[in-house]
Amino acid sequence: MSIDGEMNLTVTHIRKTFQNNSASKTILRDVSFAVESGQFVSLVGPSGCGKSTLLTIIAGFQESTAGEIRLNGGIVSRPGPDRGFVFQEFALFPWMTVRENILFPMKQMKIPRPDQTERLQKLLSMAQLEDSEHLYPSQISGGMKQRTAVLRALAGDPQVLLMDEPLGAVDHQMRQILQEELEALWMKNRTTVIMVTHDIYCELA
Ligand SMILES: Nc1ncnc2c1ncn2[C@@H]1O[C@H](COP(=O)(O)OP(=O)(O)OP(=O)(O)O)[C@@H](O)[C@H]1O
Ligand SMILES: [Mg+2]
Repeated sequence: MSIDGEMNLTVTHIRKTFQNNSASKTILRDVSFAVESGQFVSLVGPSGCGKSTLLTIIAGFQESTAGEIRLNGGIVSRPGPDRGFVFQEFALFPWMTVRENILFPMKQMKIPRPDQTERLQKLLSMAQLEDSEHLYPSQISGGMKQRTAVLRALAGDPQVLLMDEPLGAVDHQMRQILQEELEALWMKNRTTVIMVTHDIYCELA
């Protein structure tokens, strides 16, 4: 399911300055690192330090002020199906069922219908969500929402999964459950992951 071997992502000298009226604020200063296939990389830091900003720059949702992101040698300048994104607040479409949420990116990518169904079944079974495919986000638990959001991000078979872990609305115990579920999913899929986490005791292998 995941792409083996050759994925390579480099973050080089990234700077991000926000300009608000006359004031300018530099959030990211000379950030560089590289990620290889199959790695699980955690971005840790206090609230407001720029983790989500960095993740969205890697996703291509916003531009950096300086520096570059390269995926397999090519410069990243906009969002693409090679990078799956799980938002800090999951951002599932509330009017769509679990099934429809996961199918959404595959429809966008115009994947043939039989392949969509086959991939959907594989993903649902990987996350033990087969019995919940017809439920809406408001009818499922926080953990199930996260699993659905991860499956939706995996639906396009991305080379790297970018995850922004939920913070505010989730208590410590819930976060632990989410991390365990995430670990189980990752063990099954082994997609390269860059995850913002608020818990430095995260024990992913
Ligand atoms: N579009 C913007 N314009 C101006 N300032 C911004 C913008 N987006 C983010 N910021 C500022 O950049 C800083 C970093 O924000 P960011 O959301 O990346 O933090 P974070 O590390 O993800 O925090 P948290 O752990 O609370 O999610 C914050 O001070 C925020 O106010
Ligand atoms: Mg954030």
